[in-house]
Amino acid sequence: MQANARDLHNYLCLDDFEKAAGRHLPRPLFGYVAGASETGASLSHNREEFAKYAFRPRVLRDVSQRSTRTTLFGESYSAPFGIAPMGISALMAYRGDLALAQGAIRAEIPMIMSGSSLIRLEDVIATAPSTWFQAYLPGEPERIDALVDRVAEAGFKTLVLTVDTAALANRENNIRAGFSTPLRPSLALAWQGITHPRWTVGTFMRTLLQHGVPHFENSYATRGAPIVSSNVMRDFGRKDHLNWTHLERIRSRWAGKLVVKGILHPEDAARSQAVGADGVIVSNHGGRQLDGALSPLAALPAIVDQVGERMPVMVDGGFRRGTDVMKALALGARFVFVGRPFLYAASVGGLPGVMKAAELLHTELYRNMALLGISTVDELTGDYLVRLR
Ligand code: FNR
Repeated sequence: MQANARDLHNYLCLDDFEKAAGRHLPRPLFGYVAGASETGASLSHNREEFAKYAFRPRVLRDVSQRSTRTTLFGESYSAPFGIAPMGISALMAYRGDLALAQGAIRAEIPMIMSGSSLIRLEDVIATAPSTWFQAYLPGEPERIDALVDRVAEAGFKTLVLTVDTAALANRENNIRAGFSTPLRPSLALAWQGITHPRWTVGTFMRTLLQHGVPHFENSYATRGAPIVSSNVMRDFGRKDHLNWTHLERIRSRWAGKLVVKGILHPEDAARSQAVGADGVIVSNHGGRQLDGALSPLAALPAIVDQVGERMPVMVDGGFRRGTDVMKALALGARFVFVGRPFLYAASVGGLPGVMKAAELLHTELYRNMALLGISTVDELTGDYLVRLR
């Protein structure tokens, strides 16, 4: 019940998946993915910041042997981008986390599985062994330890801790779009199901019939609440007391690579490094947490200045084009993560959709590297960019 391979020819850039997902998904679900917090200021800022840089290309450089390949934490990837963690993906796409993780393996890019997911982390890593795991810190120390141990036992090598969620963001647009957790049955929701039959049959009914009511599987070491339960909010727990000692605790328990996601201040990047993190992801959560928070591209240069020599600085938020990836790399990022477009691609096209999205971004990068006059991504430096205004 998803786009077939022939339909995928019609997708020419990542934004095409957003338009298709807008038709395919019930309004509350599309609103949940597309939306941001309060006025959406950070969401728009994320995109606007790219327009503040122009390329200054070099010519006649024989770029016939170029490659987008890069390494990160000792792993070789086909391109310097990967898939950002997104919660409840399996509601947007049938077995969404698996489609994203397997698509990433085929495309040879990293995929970060969200801790707010509806498929057991053990099932994801069994079919996609190089997947990274993202956790929100549970409130209590014993629960933190138990989750970290579970992730390690499952075989994950890279743990991403998201730290920009001290409180639940005010996503009033979710309410306007009719989205809530728990999902509350209503006439309006039923009408959305009727008017989006491909999603209703191909994702929702198929999931219910084959796997039962989805639960939050990975927030803790044990199974969490079902998506339709009134306990869901309690399940998310309070996180406003978390501090750097919690990160230290995890560092001493987790032997694999540790990445801190949701950094916008250079001093927080330096602190993460001092605590023993192996990398940071500069991010404002796709504009979904503090409305008005700085865009990651704007925050990037100061963070690269602070820690870029000592650890990989990664970034996400608003990346839609190969040229966007090139701008971040020229500003010193080692790697870029892309969120919403991959979830839209999984929702309209399943595994082939995810692979198509990766291929589109890869092709743009490969082509535009030639036009910029470079043969490897390591050559990207600030010399290729001019800041406008
Ligand atoms: C997210 N994001 C997110 N981040 C995280 O650390 N854990 C999570 O569970 C989620 N869940 C989530 C759900 C959905 C639907 C979206 C759109 C986003 C944030 C995500 O990892 C990333 O920071 C942004 O999505 C990047 O911005 P773009 O590429 O979507 O513009």
